[in-house]
Amino acid sequence: MFGSLKALPADPILGLLAKYREDSNPKKVDLGVGVYKNEAGHTAILNCVKKAEKYRYDTEDTKVYIGPTGSPLFNEEMSKLIFGHHKALLENRVRTVSTPGGTGALRVAAEFIKSCKAGTTIWVSNPTWANHTGLFQAAGLTVKTYPYYDYENKTLDFDGMLAALKEVSADDAVLLHACCHNPSGMDLTNEQWQQVAEVAKAKAWLPVLDMAYQGFGDGLDEDAYGLRLIAESVEEMIVCSSCSKNFGLYRERIGAATIIANSTANADIANSVLLSVVRCIYSMPPAHGAALVETILHSDELRQLWHAELKEMRDRINGNRQILVDKLAENGVERDFSFITRQKGMFSFLGITPEQVQRLQDEFSIYMVGSSRMSIAGIAKSNVDYLAQSIAKVL
Ligand code: LMR
Repeated sequence: MFGSLKALPADPILGLLAKYREDSNPKKVDLGVGVYKNEAGHTAILNCVKKAEKYRYDTEDTKVYIGPTGSPLFNEEMSKLIFGHHKALLENRVRTVSTPGGTGALRVAAEFIKSCKAGTTIWVSNPTWANHTGLFQAAGLTVKTYPYYDYENKTLDFDGMLAALKEVSADDAVLLHACCHNPSGMDLTNEQWQQVAEVAKAKAWLPVLDMAYQGFGDGLDEDAYGLRLIAESVEEMIVCSSCSKNFGLYRERIGAATIIANSTANADIANSVLLSVVRCIYSMPPAHGAALVETILHSDELRQLWHAELKEMRDRINGNRQILVDKLAENGVERDFSFITRQKGMFSFLGITPEQVQRLQDEFSIYMVGSSRMSIAGIAKSNVDYLAQSIAKVL
């Protein structure tokens, strides 16, 4: 049976990571996969996580099955983090399950949508995270795109986006990046969110909010602004969130899939479908990451420490944006790269050709995705001169 298989190309993001690890050039720079790195290029474990792990080590007393929902305390804390004091929570219309990372949440959401209506069309931004399309198609959904990034002007094609969303049918779903758009870093303003929320309400399509970077844009509440607004405007909605980046729990695989239904009774029905979806894919989520997150969010001391550590990560990334733009100018690059400072979160497109991206990799050991998506967290004071000089050479 296996003889009929054809080898597939490596994943465009994870394949890059493997190449970077094999590269022996001491000057190599990793701007590929979206992980936070400190000035030393290291993805350290957050102090709040270390403290929560110590607490867990001291108090955990069983490894018995956790059940498809995952930890109820984690789910409750995540709902509060996502929605704040939202009326949907107060009206008891929200249900959350813990998932293996944000990707697990997206797959659960996709299977849930399939349970509502097989073959549903889901609209994703053009461009979107490289894995969205494959993931939704693997669950049997039809994927279509709406305009999003204006490559020429390095900004948001909001008119194109809004016009397309006005044409989406009430039977379809629309995936929106809640903040820190991956791969463009181009986010909506609060006024633009307002308009999208109005269209979502008028056209009654299902909003699916992917929030993988809460806290990396402007702050935890600020980054949830659009999501919360939409949750006020529509009756049904799905949120897929991740603790990989903001808690630095990448390999622990912890995220959450959350649904809002139009009534408590329908939320319970939808929840039973979610649990059945989970049972049929991976049965139950991993417990360790969820235990750390709930410990942090449930403790005033650890939550404050987390806020401070998250701010430090956010500030460093924003600082890197400015440093790169300044260094490019210092190295004689005349092209205007100031758009990088107006974008948010982990990523921006540098806006160079795939050939130039390949030259950066082959000649300078600088790794970014073929679309020229850079993980801004990979920039450091120690490599930014080399990076700017190399970019200047390939330009
Ligand atoms: C990324 O976009 O680099 C991250 O979300 C990691 C991944 O799994 O692709």
